[in-house]
Amino acid sequence: MPATAVEAEGLVKTFGSTRALDGVDLLIPDGTVLGLLGPNGAGKTTCVRILSTLLRPDSGRATVAGVDVLADPDGVRRRIGLSGQFAAVDENLTGFENLYMVARLYGMSRASSRSRARQLLSRFRLEEAAERPAKGYSGGMRRRLDLAGALVAEPPVVVLDEPTTGLDPRGRLDTWEVIGELVTDGASVLLTTQYLEEADRLADTIAVLDRGGVIARGSSDELKAKVGGERLELVIEDPIHLPDAMRVLAGIGSGEPSLDEQAQRVGVLVDGGAKSLVEALRRLDLESVMVVDVRLHRPTLDDVFLALTGHAAEIPAVQSSEGAGE
Ligand SMILES: Nc1ncnc2c1ncn2[C@@H]1O[C@H](COP(=O)(O)OP(=O)(O)OP(=O)(O)O)[C@@H](O)[C@H]1O
Ligand SMILES: [Mg+2]
Repeated sequence: MPATAVEAEGLVKTFGSTRALDGVDLLIPDGTVLGLLGPNGAGKTTCVRILSTLLRPDSGRATVAGVDVLADPDGVRRRIGLSGQFAAVDENLTGFENLYMVARLYGMSRASSRSRARQLLSRFRLEEAAERPAKGYSGGMRRRLDLAGALVAEPPVVVLDEPTTGLDPRGRLDTWEVIGELVTDGASVLLTTQYLEEADRLADTIAVLDRGGVIARGSSDELKAKVGGERLELVIEDPIHLPDAMRVLAGIGSGEPSLDEQAQRVGVLVDGGAKSLVEALRRLDLESVMVVDVRLHRPTLDDVFLALTGHAAEIPAVQSSEGAGE
């Protein structure tokens, strides 16, 4: 077993005038999960495609499970399981057939292919749909089948590109559980996500990718500590007072205040804890701005993202309907 699951140095990739990756370094020690976190277009899938040998970098080098992606792409493919945004599911085959086929392709016997397929179908709650063609599956079921396909050969390195996008909360929890089990069984995982909560929960190390570059890395706690302080959030009764509230918070906080117009919520990072909260309420009261809800909490990864990029996380809220797909 190599000491590092993934090692990438200086990955650059351009598409026409778009610099999708601008010198990305990544390191995943064996048996750990790296969360590659970033908004749409940050370069996550480009990284995944390079590491899984589907795309050649313009420059830079990478090894996966100790094998060089450029020198021995077949060797890399034998050692990774990939579940991506472009699902490898065959629409005309049933769920069972899809997994059975993959197992056979990996050279497993008929009997072990059958039992591995059944085992994965049950693990991903697809038993009832097992004999139906995948084209009738919902978006969420398809994603679960695709993920199951990546795990057929029990690869030492698993690469998951937004594994829970389009899943309902139950599907998301199932997937998180499976990823946890993979790591317990000794696998290493590269996981891309737009969901801060997902990175927070699953990743040993997080690399924040923005516009083709890694702008921060560390554990979730380390990233939060970088931001420091606490976050004060207020819900304002009348939306007409949001500008006043923003002005008050700008005078109290240690950074730029943020605004969620729909939720009538304003927020800012503060250094003074409860004192800052009391001061904010006092000033708002002087301006006759009614506050209906108040929260003071440790920074979340959302705050980290905001602080790092200077722009609010253009990161969607967790979707609640299965089958929404991409
Ligand atoms: N085959 C391609 N041809 C042209 N441009 C591309 C291609 N693939 C990616 N890009 C561009 O490279 C940039 C990074 O894309 P990438 O798909 O890696 O982002 P991402 O982080 O995976 O985004 P998303 O969250 O939407 O999946 C984007 O600007 C994208 O438009
Ligand atoms: Mg992508």
